[in-house]
Amino acid sequence: MLEILLFGYLITCVSGQRGADVVLSCSLVEEGSGMGGMGGGAPFSRTPATLVLRDLAVTPDLSPDTLTPFNPPAVPDPNDIILEAKVTSPEIPEADLLLHADCNDQEVACEMSQYYPRDAQQGSTEPAYFIVSLQVEGGGLSLTLLLQTLSINKDQSDHPALMQSKLELPLSQSGTLLTEVVFLVFSRSQYRSAPLGGVALLDCGFRQQAQHTGQDVGLEWRLQHRGNGRRILEMRAGKRETEEEPVVHVEREGSSVDAARLTGQGNASLTLSRLKVPDEGTYICTVSSGLYQAQQVIQLHVIQPPQVSFSQEKLVFQDKLTQKLSCHCKNYYPLDVQIEWLSLGPTDSEPSIVSEQVSLSSHRQHSDGTLSLSSHLFLQPSAFPPGTTVTCRVTHAALDMPSSLSLTVQAPDPDSYWMVLGFLVITILFFYQVMK
Ligand SMILES: *[C@@H]1O[C@H](CO)[C@@H](O)[C@H](O)[C@H]1NC(C)=O
Repeated sequence: MLEILLFGYLITCVSGQRGADVVLSCSLVEEGSGMGGMGGGAPFSRTPATLVLRDLAVTPDLSPDTLTPFNPPAVPDPNDIILEAKVTSPEIPEADLLLHADCNDQEVACEMSQYYPRDAQQGSTEPAYFIVSLQVEGGGLSLTLLLQTLSINKDQSDHPALMQSKLELPLSQSGTLLTEVVFLVFSRSQYRSAPLGGVALLDCGFRQQAQHTGQDVGLEWRLQHRGNGRRILEMRAGKRETEEEPVVHVEREGSSVDAARLTGQGNASLTLSRLKVPDEGTYICTVSSGLYQAQQVIQLHVIQPPQVSFSQEKLVFQDKLTQKLSCHCKNYYPLDVQIEWLSLGPTDSEPSIVSEQVSLSSHRQHSDGTLSLSSHLFLQPSAFPPGTTVTCRVTHAALDMPSSLSLTVQAPDPDSYWMVLGFLVITILFFYQVMK
């Protein structure tokens, strides 16, 4: 359910004094109330909302014409949900990607919900927190932001602040909910593929406000695959030099996180070495610091290209019998592979696909999880005259381009009969000499 995301578009970019502002259409997701059991009502409800990110630090190559100002509604509407977030500290990493997404027509999925920090004071509604998840289409950047509401200066005007009708939180003069980013977890690559036996780096990082940087950081990496979950690694590290060594539990051999990079640079990336097929799945990077905790999800695919070979080195019809040529694809992963046969006769200009007289073996699975498959082609001498090139073309996810192997049908050797006879005569003569 949570996987279903509504896609929002970047509406406008605004030029500010220091950075740029980004306006995203979002949805506020709430657990369904009351209607849950009734007639299969949706467990979540969605309300349109807007997210305004203020003062994004961007490279100055963006021309000012691409930035158009965000105009708060002329008359504040208590039904509007407009979250305005200051993002000067911590800065949003790769903020350029958010701005460029607009120009590249990429969608940015945006979802927000209310967040309740660990050990939050019971009964207090302020400050309120929101957790916002942003994903740039195509997997270039995924962000989870924790926003904390800023208190509205009530003394400035005589009348009490307008309250947002749904959230019951005070609105600013311009009708927005003023917040600041207090913590964020991000990943710049949500899809990774790496070869069997190789190394994969799963990208995950976090940022927090400067005043919290002394705190201990907790990190957990979990793997979720086909309904099963297991912990890969857990770490707790302090920033101060006086702190004891970081506490690390490695539950998958050959997995590691650099503790110094975690506390020093906010880099929580996981290195997995000696990859095996069971390492494939959905990885969840959970970073916690103080009261805050957020996650990123990264998919890892293990890939291994097939080794393609023929059953024989030569293709010669010595008699008029049908010949079987097999094309073997060995030790590949994942399952899907396509094996095609092509034939190019001596007078043809283009190869043609051979679909008749072809049969596939069943898949064979090896102990390392890789698979093998063979395709057999039954060749009639009449359809494959000498000089015909027979090609086996293999397409697989681990291959950038299809892999092809070819054999050319050879004319039967007319001299072979005489060569065998000659060889026999010489042998007999040789033995005759020896025996004498
Ligand atoms: C973490 O460090 C690795 C190795 O230097 C780097 O490749 C990766 O981009 C960094 N990731 C983050 C999120 O900082």
